[in-house]
Amino acid sequence: MSDEPGYADQSLYGKSFKAAGAAAARNVVAKVRVQSFAVSIDGYGAGPDQDLQNPLGVRGPELMEWFFHTRLWRRMHGQEDGETGVDNGIVEQGFAGIGAWILGRNMFGPVRGPWPDESWKGWWGEEPPYHAPVFVLTHHPRSPLKMAGGTEFHFVTEGLHAALEQATAAASGRDVRVGGGVSTIRQYLRAGLIDELHLAIRPVLLGSGEHLLRDIDLRALGYECAKYVPGERAFHVFLRKAA
Ligand SMILES: NC(=O)c1ccc[n+]([C@@H]2O[C@H](COP(=O)([O-])OP(=O)(O)OC[C@H]3O[C@@H](n4cnc5c(N)ncnc54)[C@H](OP(=O)(O)O)[C@@H]3O)[C@@H](O)[C@H]2O)c1
Repeated sequence: MSDEPGYADQSLYGKSFKAAGAAAARNVVAKVRVQSFAVSIDGYGAGPDQDLQNPLGVRGPELMEWFFHTRLWRRMHGQEDGETGVDNGIVEQGFAGIGAWILGRNMFGPVRGPWPDESWKGWWGEEPPYHAPVFVLTHHPRSPLKMAGGTEFHFVTEGLHAALEQATAAASGRDVRVGGGVSTIRQYLRAGLIDELHLAIRPVLLGSGEHLLRDIDLRALGYECAKYVPGERAFHVFLRKAA
């Protein structure tokens, strides 16, 4: 883990844990990070009408076109190819040093309201890419769900602070990544609980959907731009909460 938001070319499944160990040895304070969160030029983080056919909402995949070409994403899907440039380095860095995740219920899946049964296990198959405890914010209780590869989904009904407390405890000194979706990140931003926010700005217009920053005054909340990096398919902006 680095103090500076960066894009070192670290392997998701190997060096990331070594990096986390090194950080712990240096007594680096764990952070709450949003990484690789894609937004359109007009500020949307998801398209409208999310459902089983449109996990990211209608036109939402246009936001992720930068991610789909990276080596990391291709490896997650069993492919050995993929690009290893700036975008890939940044997305790999986003997985480094993470000890636990927080997601909103809509990012976890298309089921709304009370869980009809326990059959929905996320979008990611039997071995999700988290390899760590994942705390899913929801108003509807559900038993924890253990998946292959170290991912365990915990459903938290006590709100965002409780989810962060549980994630921080589970992360054992490593960082907590708030994975999304939009509503979840907005709540943590408004509460001033995000230390670092990396946005991958895509050159597309969605026009409607879930807007990330509408009516949120990041400046008043103490955020500043620490770094910006042009990638192959997205422009990367790293915001940081001033100490
Ligand atoms: N652009 C990107 O890089 C990116 C990354 C990740 C995800 N996404 C996309 O973002 C979309 C999802 O975002 P979203 O804004 O619709 O929803 P979300 O943040 O994923 O989830 C919102 C839901 O989580 C539950 N929830 C949220 N806060 C809560 C709280 N404080 N207490 C209890 N429950 C709480 C509520 O569900 P219930 O009341 O129903 O339980 C709420 O409706 C998806 O399309 C996903 O694919 C985009």
